[in-house]
Amino acid sequence: MAVESDFLIIGSGIAGLSFALNASQYGSVTVITKKENTESNTNYAQGGIATVIHPQDSFELHVEDTLKAGAGLCDREAVEILVREGPDRVQELIDWGVRFSKSKTKGKEGAYALAREGGHSIERIIYAQDLTGREIERALVAAIKDNENIRVFENHMAIDLITEHHFFRMKETNLEKRTCFGVYALNTARGNVDRFLAKMTMLSTGGTGQVYQHSTNPAIATGDGIVMSYRAGAKIANLEFMQFHPTTLYHPDGRSFLISEAVRGYGGILRTKDGETFMENYHPKGCLAPRDIVARAIDHELKRRGDHCVYLDVTHLDGAKVKGRFPNIYEHCRSLGIDMTQEPIPVVPAAHYMCGGVLTDLWGQTSIERLFASGEVTCTGVHGANRLASNSLLEALVFSHRALGKAVQLVQEKYFVFPTIPEWQEEGVFDSEEWVLISHDREEIQRLMWDYVGIVRSDHRLNRALRRVRLIAEEVEAFYKKTKVTNDLIELRNIATVSELIIRCALYRRESRGLHFTTDCPQTDDSQWRRNTILTTEGFSQ
Ligand code: FAD
Ligand code: SIN
Repeated sequence: MAVESDFLIIGSGIAGLSFALNASQYGSVTVITKKENTESNTNYAQGGIATVIHPQDSFELHVEDTLKAGAGLCDREAVEILVREGPDRVQELIDWGVRFSKSKTKGKEGAYALAREGGHSIERIIYAQDLTGREIERALVAAIKDNENIRVFENHMAIDLITEHHFFRMKETNLEKRTCFGVYALNTARGNVDRFLAKMTMLSTGGTGQVYQHSTNPAIATGDGIVMSYRAGAKIANLEFMQFHPTTLYHPDGRSFLISEAVRGYGGILRTKDGETFMENYHPKGCLAPRDIVARAIDHELKRRGDHCVYLDVTHLDGAKVKGRFPNIYEHCRSLGIDMTQEPIPVVPAAHYMCGGVLTDLWGQTSIERLFASGEVTCTGVHGANRLASNSLLEALVFSHRALGKAVQLVQEKYFVFPTIPEWQEEGVFDSEEWVLISHDREEIQRLMWDYVGIVRSDHRLNRALRRVRLIAEEVEAFYKKTKVTNDLIELRNIATVSELIIRCALYRRESRGLHFTTDCPQTDDSQWRRNTILTTEGFSQ
């Protein structure tokens, strides 16, 4: 089957759906998404969206906080755009039906409530209790349902971008001249591969947290968009900057569960097992220091003391108010026997957010023609070496909106014709009975990425990880070539490749900066390394 439309969007998180709603005014829109339409990192967002609303806040202050967190690597122009266009985009979200929490403070009733998070100089985060992402997905999914220009294909997993490399031999097409005509996607319910063709493709496939054993990300976050773009010849940047969230629940019976930074913004205090505070030894902002610093401080304390976790303490705060402000976190902890109003919450860091990704310009355009990208899959220049809390939902909204102008021009071109796109080739492949290999390999990669490519790195550990990941990647590739594709196999192949790319980027940067800390080069070197790490299939750009 081949489905043709003006706009093709891969992914149904905030980046994809906000783009779909705007694009639908200009043409036909197809959204494909690999599970049901709400399943995304967006759906799990807790803290909220950073935006300048507070009367004492200013664009300059939000820009400064973002640049400071980014440790010298943000693109100032991208940050200015993010901050200055942010409030209009948040208003658009409200117009689409998102209900943010209102203030209960006397004299401010009716105004939006604002929270504080690490690295922010002021209360700047607009939120919907501690379920901001769920509320955003609810409203966006409801809005697209009513829109007859938008077709959504759930359970359709993009496998490969369709570019010239599918109809010419790879070497004959220059990387500079690639064009994207859509994707091949697996209908995971029926098992067949369809062609989705479009005049422009928006890649909004989200993050890569699933490459790590402990992650706040849901199962969909397997780096598919980064790997598909890389294979097609796009420029990828800054994959060494994986953000570890400092506080996820530590519990033997629970999968990683985020304890929002807003809990620290609300007055939560980090303590060791003995009840001692420690963040004041690491940063003047203490528990509200930027994330890279808090995560590294916790990692250091755990290694120094041989403890399994530290504790986040809100027992000194009004219990009823804590429950009212964080009902989801309270209930989740309660379900595991922890009453956060009575006892400190055991927490550890976990992989959370990929700051690097597919390189775009300030209009969402990637280095492949007709391929745009937005959201966590990208490197727009906004986050630099470390993302400021709650800037990512904002980034997705702002850059999806900015991509619209160029995208509309492309779909309105009069003389565009699709080249002949071959069907997906399945000759010579067979159904395998070796599926146990897939779950084993996935777990092995996740474990070694956690052990060797975590918060603190070294050349020795990175090289060890690289050798092992490469071996697994080669085996997976051989298996992929002779096997009928499935959801799990496609994800495993992507996890193996994106892990290899993360390790190569980490080895390439010969300094420590923001989220990338290596004991072999512990200093920041502005003279040589205040620049992005840019990678294509042909290697690193100097
Ligand atoms: P996603 O929301 O992840 O959407 C990606 C979509 O692509 C999904 O629908 C997925 O199924 C689909 N997809 C992926 N691969 C394929 C494929 N091969 N084929 C088809 N479809 C595919 N940020 C903030 O700013 N504030 C917060 O408070 C906040 N809290 C967070 C809490 C948690 C627990 C997590 C995990 C993240 C949080 N973040 C927060 C980060 C933020 O949620 C994400 O960066 C943001 O939602 C990413 O949006 P997105 O649209 O780019 O990707
Ligand atoms: C959180 O609520 O702590 C997550 C915020 C973010 O990742 O931006």
